[in-house]
Amino acid sequence: MTYHPSPDRYKNMLYRRCGNSGIKLPAVSLGLWHNFGDVDDVENYRQILRLAFDSGITHFDLANNYGPPPGSAEENFGRILKEDFSGYRDEMIISSKAGYLMWPGPYGDWGSKKYLVSSLDQSLKRMELDYVDIFYHHRPDPDTPLEETMAALDLIVRQGKALYVGVSNYPADLTVKAAAILKQLGTPCLIHQPKYSMFERWAEGGLLDVLEKGGIGCIPFSPLAQGLLTNKYLHGIPEDSRAAKPTGFLQTSHITDDKLVRIKELNELALQRGQTLAQMALAWLLKDNRVTSVLIGVSKTDQLLDSLKALDNIQFSPDELTKIENILR
Ligand SMILES: NC(=O)c1ccc[n+]([C@@H]2O[C@H](COP(=O)([O-])OP(=O)(O)OC[C@H]3O[C@@H](n4cnc5c(N)ncnc54)[C@H](OP(=O)(O)O)[C@@H]3O)[C@@H](O)[C@H]2O)c1
Repeated sequence: MTYHPSPDRYKNMLYRRCGNSGIKLPAVSLGLWHNFGDVDDVENYRQILRLAFDSGITHFDLANNYGPPPGSAEENFGRILKEDFSGYRDEMIISSKAGYLMWPGPYGDWGSKKYLVSSLDQSLKRMELDYVDIFYHHRPDPDTPLEETMAALDLIVRQGKALYVGVSNYPADLTVKAAAILKQLGTPCLIHQPKYSMFERWAEGGLLDVLEKGGIGCIPFSPLAQGLLTNKYLHGIPEDSRAAKPTGFLQTSHITDDKLVRIKELNELALQRGQTLAQMALAWLLKDNRVTSVLIGVSKTDQLLDSLKALDNIQFSPDELTKIENILR
């Protein structure tokens, strides 16, 4: 059936300014790491994308290697963009990245200018786009001079292949250096994408301060710890869950008894707040103004509907925050 985006799509979403830039991002953004590859169900991910856009999600995050197989998420997203969203490109912020292994040989990984420029060219072809809105260096490269990687990001913007650039998985000190080089080149660092959730808090040890000081946005990835911070693993490992799948990074071994105790306690607290655990976990990140947007994944439209309701309450009382700290300690 032909898709017509909801005329009400901008009514309920909260938009937050990304650092000191001119861009606002939806408080909830959608990532296509899982569930959009060739192994996944086309109609399911089409419905997810439609619901996301209808709900005011304007930001869609990809990378060269998302799938499986690598590259297929970009191809599939590009096809649906064409079939369902043609005419709406200017309402979207589409990002891609390069930094992990994408093709064999010395030029298909890490952070050289050769790799980043070639990889983005390939991503643009796969998505059938002229440009992405944000292009990230996906992870630090210990062997390539930072100046070269940042010059590649600057070049890509000057070539018109990306409007903005960002870094992901960079520690605080390297972020300071990268941002300084980018500033000098005239292409400011728009955003940082760290792994950040109630279960993964390294960003609090300096990175968030660096981002605030530098006027750089922050978009935490895996804010639900890949599904651990939801009610789905409370009573075992569902067959259709990420942990039960042969591909992917969440293994059943990650769901330890210790984690489960905490998940249960957090779930109780969420219920007392009138939220699901997923909603509370997202709200907990969004309570901090330095967090521009939370970058979620979903395998079903119901999960997206659930997670979006986090925006109904992103305030926490001091007592609730103390209880959360005690559970996470
Ligand atoms: N920069 C990087 O290095 C990097 C790395 C990883 C991810 N990312 C980005 O971050 C995005 C999100 O990562 P993520 O998928 O790990 O995020 P996440 O939001 O922590 O986890 C998503 C998974 O949690 C489950 N889930 C989501 N909402 C739920 C709900 N309301 N109730 C129950 N279960 C729910 C689903 O798993 P099931 O499949 O079990 O249903 C879903 O696929 C990626 O798509 C990618 O764009 C970036």
